[in-house]
Amino acid sequence: MPLQVQSYFHAATSTWSHLISNGDGTPAAIIDPVLDFDPASGRVSAESAQAILAAVHAHKLRVDWILETHAHADHLSAADWLKRRLAEDGVSARVGIGAGIVAVQQHWKAVFGLGDEFAIDGSDFDHLIADGEALPLGELRIEALSTPGHTSDGMSYHVEDAVFVGDTLFSPSAGTGRCDFPGGDAATQYRSIQRLYALPAQTRLFLCHDYPPRDAEPREMVDLVEQRSGNAQLRRDTAEADYVALRTARDATLPQPRLLYPSLQVNIRAGRLPPPEAAGGRYLRIPLSGDSA
Ligand SMILES: [Fe+2]
Repeated sequence: MPLQVQSYFHAATSTWSHLISNGDGTPAAIIDPVLDFDPASGRVSAESAQAILAAVHAHKLRVDWILETHAHADHLSAADWLKRRLAEDGVSARVGIGAGIVAVQQHWKAVFGLGDEFAIDGSDFDHLIADGEALPLGELRIEALSTPGHTSDGMSYHVEDAVFVGDTLFSPSAGTGRCDFPGGDAATQYRSIQRLYALPAQTRLFLCHDYPPRDAEPREMVDLVEQRSGNAQLRRDTAEADYVALRTARDATLPQPRLLYPSLQVNIRAGRLPPPEAAGGRYLRIPLSGDSA
């Protein structure tokens, strides 16, 4: 049975999540699941993750891993919600992320003014993944490829002929992920993408986002050959200095993501919402800045 990939598009944040397995009744992994969040009302819900869970049940999959390609800045992760639902089925899925999350936690702990109750050793996650590590998945094997640059914890996951690239690369017309977040670096991302471009020519790249033009369908996958020769910002023959100049100039024009603060506050905790405060409610913080703060 060839690798099975089912992809789910979250339109509100233009995010792709992926469910991979070796067919019905086999171990499975969920990559980058999204928790629905409305910042105006504070409402958190799980319709999107519920669709993935329904497929897990329908195909009798045993989810061994819930993997994050990085700590996302534009959507909340549903990793913890899925882990808790799966535990009710007697399935213990492990939430994994690149070991670079520790530096990300350290940075954002200070930004949000979190206290000692928030550990910055990655222990909120079940497993910190190292470059080159092989994660078992039944008869499949997921090889972790460290691909920092967009963030310092960027990790791509290579299974059979597929690689899940996170925000290193978007579709060819959209280019590459921005590199101006804390821990981001365009030269580092250049080397990460060249590492992906060196994979075998028949490799399929599964995306974490797509931002299609109006009336076009989002793409969940791009062939490596198309990406290497046609990416608008970084082709295989693009010089590092040219890419760094282009990426840096582009990043200077980009607004802060709408869900930056809510996303990071949840995603550095492996998808857990902040713990309840004395009155019982859960709250997100927004650090204030500017001349009048
Ligand atoms: Fe991202």
